[in-house]
Amino acid sequence: MKLNKRVTFLVFIVLGYQSTFAQKPSSVEVTDQKVSKLLAQMTLEEKIGQMNQYNGFWESTGPLPQEESAKLKYEHLKKGWVGAVLNVTGVDNVRRIQEIVVNESRLGIPLLFGSDVIHGYKTIFPIPLAESASWDLKAIEQSARIAAVEAAAVGINWTFAPMVDISRDARWGRVMEGAGEDPFLGAKIAAARVKGFQGESLSFPTSIAACAKHFAGYGFAESGKDYNTVDIGTYTLYNTVLPPFKSAADAGVATFMNSFNVLNGVPATANSFLQRDILKKKWAYRGFVVSDWGSGKEMIDHGFAADLKQVAELSANAGSDMDMESYAYINHLKTLVEEGKVDLKVIDEAVSRILRLKFELGLFDNPYKYCNFKAEKSNLLTPEHRAAALDVAKKSIVLLKNKNNLLPLKKSQKNLAVIGVLASDKNSPLGNWRLAATDSSAVSVTDALSAAKISYSYAKGVELVYGKTNFPDELSINTKDSSEFAQAVALAKQSEVVMMVLGEHGMQSGEGRSRASLTLPGLQQQLLEAVYRVNPNIVLVLMNGRPLDISWADEHIPAIVEAWQLGTSSGTAITQVLFGDYNPSGKLTMSFPRSVGQVPIYYNHFASGRPGPKAEVFWSHYTDESNKPLYPFGYGLSYTEFSYADLQLEEQLSGKLKVSVKLTNKGGRSGEEVVQLFLHDQVASQVRPVKELKAFEKVLLAPGETKLVVFELDSTEFGFYDQYGKFIVEPGEFEIMVGGSSEDLLKKNWTLRK
Ligand code: NOJ
Repeated sequence: MKLNKRVTFLVFIVLGYQSTFAQKPSSVEVTDQKVSKLLAQMTLEEKIGQMNQYNGFWESTGPLPQEESAKLKYEHLKKGWVGAVLNVTGVDNVRRIQEIVVNESRLGIPLLFGSDVIHGYKTIFPIPLAESASWDLKAIEQSARIAAVEAAAVGINWTFAPMVDISRDARWGRVMEGAGEDPFLGAKIAAARVKGFQGESLSFPTSIAACAKHFAGYGFAESGKDYNTVDIGTYTLYNTVLPPFKSAADAGVATFMNSFNVLNGVPATANSFLQRDILKKKWAYRGFVVSDWGSGKEMIDHGFAADLKQVAELSANAGSDMDMESYAYINHLKTLVEEGKVDLKVIDEAVSRILRLKFELGLFDNPYKYCNFKAEKSNLLTPEHRAAALDVAKKSIVLLKNKNNLLPLKKSQKNLAVIGVLASDKNSPLGNWRLAATDSSAVSVTDALSAAKISYSYAKGVELVYGKTNFPDELSINTKDSSEFAQAVALAKQSEVVMMVLGEHGMQSGEGRSRASLTLPGLQQQLLEAVYRVNPNIVLVLMNGRPLDISWADEHIPAIVEAWQLGTSSGTAITQVLFGDYNPSGKLTMSFPRSVGQVPIYYNHFASGRPGPKAEVFWSHYTDESNKPLYPFGYGLSYTEFSYADLQLEEQLSGKLKVSVKLTNKGGRSGEEVVQLFLHDQVASQVRPVKELKAFEKVLLAPGETKLVVFELDSTEFGFYDQYGKFIVEPGEFEIMVGGSSEDLLKKNWTLRK
């Protein structure tokens, strides 16, 4: 009886609570109500204004339309005809512009301030491709968090990041901005970056809105040439291109950016299938889509729209909610609505999405939320931020070769020569999209060696050559002048060990920086060979924004370290790895080709019908090159040695598959290993890749320690998207593979039952 009473009481409380709860609208509903209320007060021009984004007056990251003057933009701000600006930073600047709309426009709707905060704002973190090689999701999230803290301190409330484009083509300069070739890892990193930028809630003072870009397929530009055609099949679209975007959407990314490219004949900006059918309907995405810079207008060049008016009609109807720098919406949407070519509902929906974010960021409560002079003074380049940048920089370094354990070097190393212009360059390590970093503010390798009191002698060997305007495009690594070779060679001759720092300068990758060759630029290969002839005891440190063809070096040079462009603390991170303060733990997230002719090259390809070599000629191969990459996806060495044993598969009561493996640190140093799990669906209704990453874990082991590493796979990991975008799981035989790289794996078969 007593118990019954208690139960009745509890039920009463729970129901009572639920009914109070049910009456109280959720925060989403409250925001939606606010949006509708505001929308009802807006004129058509004001609505269209929210869909219009202008570049600020101070900087630019794309070609500026000459005809549009700053004065016109100012007039539009006053009328409330601008929803967002980009490239305006600094509390003072942001405040001045925000004040115009808040004080002078009729409804005072605050602006979004967007910027390309890609790998840090003032404290520069490793380029995203490098960070992905850390396989450390916490460190990656932290890097985005700090970038957001710094961006928020200077007035930015919206970053055009993360870039989540999968790419298999190292010729494409923008691989530096992404997470490599794998959709599974790419999806995890996309979510980590979104969480980092946006924090726990957009309403927090240091949270900024993120933007998953470029939707979609941009990383598959034909022949790796930026802005080029993309023509991919449905399998690749659904299984490779879209998963990182879906993951960003699931992580709550506030916005999406479409892309410059044509996808299977239709420009992404006017692609209703992508933006409406997939993103907004299938994924029920509630954020908004911004166009890429002028990507609307570029549809005229594609031959898809006759004029700017048609650009506006096609883009708006296809679900591109905000126009960045095409001037299509502001000039033509009103007429299009009046002519009935664009429904008012389309406008209302787009504007609601944009307003919703402004409410979520808390801009209506405080339009100057991101205008805090104190934060601007104290939140940039702090010792904590530098320390975090150093931490992820170390973790991003990949040891590619270490013959006879030449590395780590001893700090007491006598007669150490350092050669290469990049060794003393403080600018290149900042990479492209270095945003507010002071020029030449990175710690160079030579700086770091001196700071660590390691004695060395230095020769550049080749110079960086600047063009007339100093515009980065004109910067190159010397292609003609070998006059400094002799000095470098003489130095190498009298040294015990030669450290050569070679690669690409910091602006040689990134947007618009595609390369047709992947070898060391300029005269660096010749320099390397000249030095090698007098002293082969070389540690080659690579700095680059993409995989390079370093086949000659792999054959001849005993130690090779991939050090990418590691940002503010670059030289310190490199020195700590080279001299053994940190045991390298990075693994490649893009395959390194043996020659550019192998590109696109990626580990999760389909098997051909003639995988061979069964016959001398008639199998799928090159007559002059191996099929294998130089270094595969997932590859990276350590100063210690790991061994894998005892791969076990066991079905759990839950139906999940438990996969376990024993990992042992056989060497004399503690170290981290990225344990990777791949699977292969042996026969399916759609040809499946030879292997696909499905789980990973970064494990720290003391010398001699063994750890059982356990993964649990549920049936979704065995599934895939069919050609209609439907996710299916097919029972049958699978190969389960676990190891420390995509090419060095223990294997066992598994039958997935119905
Ligand atoms: C063009 C780039 O493709 C995009 O990624 C960037 O966000 C915009 N320019 C704005 O700078």
